[in-house]
Amino acid sequence: MITVRVPLGDRSYDVLVGHGARTELPALLPSSVRRAALVTQAGIPIDIDPGVPFERFEIGDGEDHKTLATIEHLCRGFAEMGLTRNDVIVGVGGGMVTDVAGFAAATWHRGIPVVHVSTTLLGMVDAAIGGKTGVNLPAIDGIGGKNLVGAYWQPSGVICDLDALATLPPRELRCGRGEMAKYHFLTGDDLLAMAEPERVARCVQIKADVVASDEREGGRRALLNYGHTLAHALEIATDHSLAHGEAVGVGLVYAAHLAHRLGRIDEARVQRHYEVVGGAYELGTSLPPGLSAEHLVSLMGLDKKVLSDGLTFVLDGPRGVEVVPGVDPAAALAALSDMA
Ligand code: GLY
Repeated sequence: MITVRVPLGDRSYDVLVGHGARTELPALLPSSVRRAALVTQAGIPIDIDPGVPFERFEIGDGEDHKTLATIEHLCRGFAEMGLTRNDVIVGVGGGMVTDVAGFAAATWHRGIPVVHVSTTLLGMVDAAIGGKTGVNLPAIDGIGGKNLVGAYWQPSGVICDLDALATLPPRELRCGRGEMAKYHFLTGDDLLAMAEPERVARCVQIKADVVASDEREGGRRALLNYGHTLAHALEIATDHSLAHGEAVGVGLVYAAHLAHRLGRIDEARVQRHYEVVGGAYELGTSLPPGLSAEHLVSLMGLDKKVLSDGLTFVLDGPRGVEVVPGVDPAAALAALSDMA
């Protein structure tokens, strides 16, 4: 078992990575906990015993269920159960489950403890770590977006049981590799050369370091959005037929083209993005057919990360990956044609 500490003062917590790590769940719960509400989905293939009496709450699968209506449904169940501040919510599943369970925990009784048991590669290396929780705001008249309603609410602990990865369909593993490819460009680490437990633990460590230095994304944490500005636009434009991690892969290659357009990196570095994303990490690198480039640029302008500062991207450059505000929409459009 590998333990990675997320150092956040009195809200510090451990992330346990290893085969069979779920058996450590009772030890991760705060000592005051009397009961647990397990928030999960149908078909999550691991059995969980929190070691205290518990009730199980299932939420729907897919972005359409990541809504305030789901939070209300959960809270009604917590009320019937009589869940108190001396209890705990345990999120068991992928990124959607831990985002929803975390937000429910942040708001139920104005905040109760939450522990995440992550069952997907993407959840283990990214979503379950760092305390970002939330739900989508479904679009009405084109206004709305992913994860627009949420809270920073750190878990009391996170379990990454690698047994769960053996049950994942290839597409789910591919999604996790999208976030790992991002870490490759942020650190230069050769993650694929590591054995699986070390690789997952190293990704957790990279994220823990960033979160510890900038918990609320005032600066450095924004680097974790490398590849994400186009990725979020692609998810919306394809109505989520392109999954998040797949979209991040395409978004990383796009960010390289845009950085090249802006004179920040040379052609060889763009090619390196193709080799890493498309070659080593075996992800798609092309835009899905039939999307309007103008529509994608307008969606990137609406991304919640850029509302305050025009078109802002996270881009590679001579000093490494950094936040670049004030990008000309014409360059963003031209970089989309460069990909074609
Ligand atoms: N997934 C990006 C972050 O947690 O900041």
